[in-house]
Amino acid sequence: MLASFALSLLLATSALASPFNDKFGPCGTHPSAEDVIAAEKQFLEKKLENPQRDDGTLALRNLTIYWHVISEDNSVAGGNITDAQIASQIDVLNKDWKIMGVNWILGNTSRIVNKAWYYNWYKSPTDLAMRTALRRGSAEDLNVYSVGQVNYYGQRVGYSSFPWDYQSSPVNDGVVLDIGSLPGGSIPGYNLGRTLSHEAGHWGGLYHPFQGGCSTPNDYVDDTPAEADFATGCPTTRDSCPGFPGADLVRNHMDYTNDNCKTSDGGFTPGQISRSSQAFAIYRNGK
Ligand SMILES: *[C@@H]1O[C@H](CO)[C@@H](O)[C@H](O)[C@H]1NC(C)=O
Ligand SMILES: *[C@@H]1O[C@H](CO)[C@@H](O)[C@H](O)[C@H]1NC(C)=O
Ligand SMILES: *[C@@H]1O[C@H](CO)[C@@H](O)[C@H](O)[C@H]1NC(C)=O
Ligand SMILES: [Zn+2]
Repeated sequence: MLASFALSLLLATSALASPFNDKFGPCGTHPSAEDVIAAEKQFLEKKLENPQRDDGTLALRNLTIYWHVISEDNSVAGGNITDAQIASQIDVLNKDWKIMGVNWILGNTSRIVNKAWYYNWYKSPTDLAMRTALRRGSAEDLNVYSVGQVNYYGQRVGYSSFPWDYQSSPVNDGVVLDIGSLPGGSIPGYNLGRTLSHEAGHWGGLYHPFQGGCSTPNDYVDDTPAEADFATGCPTTRDSCPGFPGADLVRNHMDYTNDNCKTSDGGFTPGQISRSSQAFAIYRNGK
């Protein structure tokens, strides 16, 4: 009796201790409402000036990834992940992103031992130093920094920049990813490699479907039903904004549900695909 009480207390405590049980959840990409309004005003103006892909055609394209392996020592456990792990992560990304028309190709892998960079803090001087030293390519190239810990007001699985921020701050363009989120990684619920599919979604111009809560325009995509706040696990009948049409899209890549809840086939809606396609056309050199 006492033992089972102690066990359930332990389980309850460890559930509460999950690093993602706060208002930010697993992802550290959280633009303020003011930033979203400013970005959307500019995006709308640019879409009117450049109506590329407004006809809904999807450009099939190859995009390059520059992968920066940051480690605290030379071991795999210390962050020096293998080429095979990177390849299996890019396989997952390619399956999930096929419906976006994108085929991701690994351009180059760099390997750097740097303990300060390995424990990454969002917008810290060490984060900027890392990017300044390593970032490669142009607006249409995805730089991925794999690290041992991602900190944004607490531990996260990853975060990304948005395409409209490239011009004013190219050095900050890219995704920071916790190695525990790679396929076979150590983060429960988020270790099938779908964190990168999600962060690349931000990098391609998508918000979370709960960005604006139960409101219109919420995430500026017409066919993603409004969502009050993020979903975790896989609550397939969740409808967090009953006053708005449609249940929550818990299988969508841009929600926070577990990796095994997400789907490659339909994990992005036609509205998200079209929005992202326009963002690439406008902000990522027409790609
Ligand atoms: C993508 O790259 C492959 C070779 O890696 C090539 O065969 C294919 O034509 C390219 N696709 C596009 C749309 O450029
Ligand atoms: C990291 O691992 C690779 C093999 O995957 C090895 O060649 C390399 O020496 C290790 N360390 C660094 C800093 O590259
Ligand atoms: C990849 O990047 C590393 C580190 O910047 C560099 O030493 C290497 O030459 C690059 N390889 C290729 C094929 O560009
Ligand atoms: Zn996110």
